[in-house]
Amino acid sequence: MKNTLIAPSVLAADFGNLQRDIEMINNSEADWFHIDIMDGVFVPNISYGMPVLDAIKRHAKKTIDVHLMIIDPDRYIKEFAALGANILSVHYEACTHLHRTLQAIKAEGMKAGVAINPHTNVSLLEDTIKDIDLVCMMSVNPGFGGQSFIENTYKKVRQLKEIIKRNNASTLIEVDGGVTNKNAAQLVEAGADVLVAGSFVFKAENPTQTIKELKDLVNQ
Ligand code: DX5
Ligand code: ZN
Repeated sequence: MKNTLIAPSVLAADFGNLQRDIEMINNSEADWFHIDIMDGVFVPNISYGMPVLDAIKRHAKKTIDVHLMIIDPDRYIKEFAALGANILSVHYEACTHLHRTLQAIKAEGMKAGVAINPHTNVSLLEDTIKDIDLVCMMSVNPGFGGQSFIENTYKKVRQLKEIIKRNNASTLIEVDGGVTNKNAAQLVEAGADVLVAGSFVFKAENPTQTIKELKDLVNQ
């Protein structure tokens, strides 16, 4: 039996009822909290920052998976560790010294992730794959929830899986953006280990049930 993880993206939650939505994830079959941090520079949108993550962390009872869509992420590694991030992903496109950044994340006791934009070829990760705990593969252009899934992602997941196997690495593949029950099974078949879902979960009539259905769908 597969063990595909589901990581609801809090970006799509109702911020007026944040505690309620956090408790919903706690009590659901979801595995992680996916936290999208945007700076308005690396991506054309600003999401939320440290005080909101601090508030989430006070109620969240599952792994905190932080996706930084910011320039110069090295400046904030210690702060995200102190806020309780378990996994910290930085964008490949935002790092001049990716290898150094990954070591700095691990030195703070977190798992190190690398997010890649849709235009970034997976072969660019060949030389660091052994140092990467998680690749957050963007299946939309980062910056907004609710966008349509880019079909080219299946191919990229398969190619990345090959790189992971070839290097005998234990890197997890996370797919982020436009994930629904229409593409989830095919993504897992291609090699995805973690599925992020924002709108699909939070815009559903029954988010708890939707998480369960997605989880069942990808763990047959
Ligand atoms: C996009 C974010 C995603 C987003 C996913 O920049 O990184 O995590 O919240 O939302 P949906 O599932 O609505 O595409
Ligand atoms: Zn994300």
